[in-house]
Amino acid sequence: MSDRENNETIKTAAEIIRRGGLVAMPTETVYGLAADATRDASVAKIFEAKGRPRFNPLICHVADAEMAARYVEISPLAGKLIDAFWPGPLTLVLPRRPDAGLSLLVSAGLDTVAVRAPAHESAQALIRAADRPLAAPSANRSGRISPTTADHVRTGGLLIQPELIVDGGPCRVGVESTIVKPEGETVTLLRPGGLARADIEKVAGAPLMDPPQTDKPQAPGMLVSHYAPAAGMRLNAAAQRDGEAFLGFGDVAGEPGALSMNLSASGDLREAAANLFRYLRALDEQCGERGLTTIAVAPMPNDGLGEAINDRLARAAAPRGQ
Ligand code: TXA
Ligand code: MG
Repeated sequence: MSDRENNETIKTAAEIIRRGGLVAMPTETVYGLAADATRDASVAKIFEAKGRPRFNPLICHVADAEMAARYVEISPLAGKLIDAFWPGPLTLVLPRRPDAGLSLLVSAGLDTVAVRAPAHESAQALIRAADRPLAAPSANRSGRISPTTADHVRTGGLLIQPELIVDGGPCRVGVESTIVKPEGETVTLLRPGGLARADIEKVAGAPLMDPPQTDKPQAPGMLVSHYAPAAGMRLNAAAQRDGEAFLGFGDVAGEPGALSMNLSASGDLREAAANLFRYLRALDEQCGERGLTTIAVAPMPNDGLGEAINDRLARAAAPRGQ
């Protein structure tokens, strides 16, 4: 491809991202299915395209440390790792800034965000042209192998095809990025990947820690730290009772005058997924202020994104302190 064709492709891809669409982008590790990480509906579309039965948090791709600093808090140790390895196959899980403006669906309701700056010219160009952080998991259907060519993306069984696949040739690294979580003076290895443990240890100056058994990203739904509201939850609620906040869906809405929100009045599961974490948080906060103890939730269908929504609701409702 000529430079001019390449520039045109990136420009088109950036426009698609900015109006909320999906683009497959090459990185040095694997192809990512990218969307604007600040838009709930676009992030929901990623989950829908992958056919994921669960919401697990996604990596936000940024151009560099300066861009990352708009969304996360970078400790001195994190800064050292970033200086040594960005752009490159290292993802850092860091505290989300309160003013980050990222979709809560990106971090599946957690207070942290996984960020990385890919070492690939097209990915870098796309992030800069779109001027947005890009949420991007591997561009394959859930449960299938990560794509390392544009052709793999086309044949990878995605349930929604990206509007554009930016073809950057075969990926240089071919396995996903290494994910670490720096906290204070320690660094925990959450996912082994394209950057070797020993290289990270050299810079960190200490051995990497193993995550608690239940915190392994291989079973993302099992993360102990997943968001649970302070209020109790009552699922499959046909109607709102006294003393409850209500999270409705479709026709099943709250009582007039009582505290309630509707995930999607029209019964659209993508809209519901996009609103889920934001509305749960908002209701939880209001419950605290108004002395309500329970959030009741309308029944949700279990097809399409409904399965992931129900999975997350069940986790939010599970007994605490485990
Ligand atoms: O190489 C890669 O990292 C590729 C390319 C496209 O950049 N991307 C990728 O993204 O693998 P994704 O979204 O599939 O990786 C998500 C992984 C999950 O295993 C998830 O559990 C972990 O990152 N993760 C994301 N945010 C997290 C958080 N806040 N806390 C803990 N783990 C997190
Ligand atoms: Mg994957």
